[in-house]
Amino acid sequence: MSFKNDILEGIPGELPSPKKYDPNVNHAPKRRDILTSEEKKLALKNALRYFDARHHETLLPEFMEELNTYGRIYMYRLRPDYEMYARSIDEYPGKSVQAKGIMLMIQNNLDPKVAQHPHELITYGGNGAVFQNWAQYRLVMKYLAEMTDKQTLVINSGHPLGLFPSHPDAPRVVVSNGMMIPNYSKPDDWEKFNALGVTQYGQMTAGSYMYIGPQGIVHGTTITVLNALRKYSKDPAGALFVTSGLGGMSGAQPKAGNIAGCITVCAEVNPKAAETRYSQGWVDEIITDLDALASRVKKAKDQKETISLAFLGNVVDVWEKFSEENIKIDIGSDQTSLHNPWAGGYYPAGLSFEESNKLMSEDPAAFKAKVQESLRRQVKAINRHTKNGTYFFDYGNAFLLEASRAGAAILKDGKGNFVKATETEEELDFAYPSYVQDIMGPMCFDYGFGPFRWVCASGKEEDLQKTDEIATNVLARLRENAPGEIQQQMEDNIRWIKGAQENKLVVGSQARILYADAQGRMEIARAFNEAISRKEIGNVILGRDHHDVSGTDSPYRETSNIYDGSRFTADMAIQNVIGDSFRGATWVSIHNGGGVGWGEVINGGFGMILDGSKEAKRRLISMLFWDVNNGIARRSWARNDGAVFAIKRAMETEPLLSVTLPNTVEESLLKTL
Ligand SMILES: NC(=O)c1ccc[n+]([C@@H]2O[C@H](COP(=O)([O-])OP(=O)(O)OC[C@H]3O[C@@H](n4cnc5c(N)ncnc54)[C@H](O)[C@@H]3O)[C@@H](O)[C@H]2O)c1
Repeated sequence: MSFKNDILEGIPGELPSPKKYDPNVNHAPKRRDILTSEEKKLALKNALRYFDARHHETLLPEFMEELNTYGRIYMYRLRPDYEMYARSIDEYPGKSVQAKGIMLMIQNNLDPKVAQHPHELITYGGNGAVFQNWAQYRLVMKYLAEMTDKQTLVINSGHPLGLFPSHPDAPRVVVSNGMMIPNYSKPDDWEKFNALGVTQYGQMTAGSYMYIGPQGIVHGTTITVLNALRKYSKDPAGALFVTSGLGGMSGAQPKAGNIAGCITVCAEVNPKAAETRYSQGWVDEIITDLDALASRVKKAKDQKETISLAFLGNVVDVWEKFSEENIKIDIGSDQTSLHNPWAGGYYPAGLSFEESNKLMSEDPAAFKAKVQESLRRQVKAINRHTKNGTYFFDYGNAFLLEASRAGAAILKDGKGNFVKATETEEELDFAYPSYVQDIMGPMCFDYGFGPFRWVCASGKEEDLQKTDEIATNVLARLRENAPGEIQQQMEDNIRWIKGAQENKLVVGSQARILYADAQGRMEIARAFNEAISRKEIGNVILGRDHHDVSGTDSPYRETSNIYDGSRFTADMAIQNVIGDSFRGATWVSIHNGGGVGWGEVINGGFGMILDGSKEAKRRLISMLFWDVNNGIARRSWARNDGAVFAIKRAMETEPLLSVTLPNTVEESLLKTL
């Protein structure tokens, strides 16, 4: 059957043959067997409602086995036979160009080159799902192929509720993922309701079809490393950055260090992860011996090399060794997966990789004690370095939180002493900031700079080159009149886009990430739309990471630099997505969970197709202006200086914008209380 006919068929009338489990593909871990036998019946009834009753007898035992073996019903049999990758937009069947663009993005997020567990429909982060099962995928693709621009498809956690009448300016698709009644948003609730087949964890860009491979992380990490060096160190040449993790996101660190121009030492306990990054050229050398590492670093410092070194071993040993050898670390961080500390996210010092894997399954309590002991050792060594001038920051991986729970001296009292959480009754702050508090928030988000991105719908490399050139020209023009406050950001982004092709970061669709502020995003999009109307390039799909100025409310990450108490509210993310939807987004999405965990964050995003038309121009201006400025307005109300500056500037350019500004109370007045 042709690709187009296969999509138009949706769920086939006759069942395809069962699919063999392919051991060569990276599969999702077995999920917890959390349902009671009555609940399992409900999960099966839920799964079977996608199929004609005559198939139920065949599918019932098969789905039961999937549930018992994998903890979920993925409906492997329905996985299509055609190759999964983003085709050129013209190759999709359908009546709506917008809907075809969404099909392209869905397939990109399920492409085995892009997705982490492609057969379980997981794009990244271990549980970031595009759909819960293959029936949902097939139905959604069919709806998209059938719909017109006067309909909107409603998708609830992967399940297509259906097509509803709307109008051409409305989104073609509205997605919500994992939205729960707040009291039912604990980790076990995700396990249970996901196993029942009624909700899913969309992470950030997975459930909104906007993941574009690892380049998104590389750009963000480069900005963080560059600014950490600037703020607390000096010239990157010869400066030393020490961190850990060569996994999914953490693996971007050595590449970012090289782009920033410093020496990076990244410890990794898993030889496979280190080898993968080395074979991809993301890290320059692998060193297995601590003495050899110390002398290699000394040489690199002497010669001011730009180099990245993977140390195959535990990061705690690196912190301790460099302290013994008096090797000055300029900036330090940690990207072990401490959001998941007891099941392989963090490997304790003193045990080999294999010993740890054995202990965590055979004696979880003993393993937990080892992890906590290791964290205490790590913090002790870090504290020694920071007393000598190292700038250390938390990389959104719950390092500070878990270290404090482990009894490490990671809080600071009024006199600047390191204290343990157990030693104090006071509400003390952590001794170190998070990367959003110190860098990403005040330097980027408050001014509106965030991870804008686009995908060339033709799939042509030359289109991506042309869009890179257009974006570079726009940013260079805007920089000429940009105020001093944002000159550095503009320069960094121009440098990134100029080097983007050289760094060969495209995996999957022809996509590009580029941090830009509201004006930059609008001007770049407008220039793309004009180039499309002149037929110089094909259609372009715009979007962004949810890890942005406005899309995400997450008190320990994206909104950790909000200090008026409102960081525990989620009004901004909700307003953001509602506003995008009636200002012209092609699709919108809103999620519970992502990055820091289920129940810990609400985040949303959009996709927008540019086709060169006047309507596209109207929509892009209306929507992108709101998409960034609503977040700046909220950050400004929280009294963040950069955001107050940025929103006043936005009001000067747009007379219809009128934002409530905060008044500042004199601290001396408060002291009179
Ligand atoms: N890069 C970013 O922009 C970003 C942003 C926010 C949060 N994070 C967080 O960073 C963490 C890492 O993400 P990931 O996708 O790379 O996870 P991952 O699990 O793929 O990688 C972590 C790596 O750390 C290694 N490791 C664990 N303990 C170690 C130790 N003691 N010494 C040396 N290596 C050790 C593991 O073997 C693994 O390869 C997550 O908690 C994530 O939420 C990253």
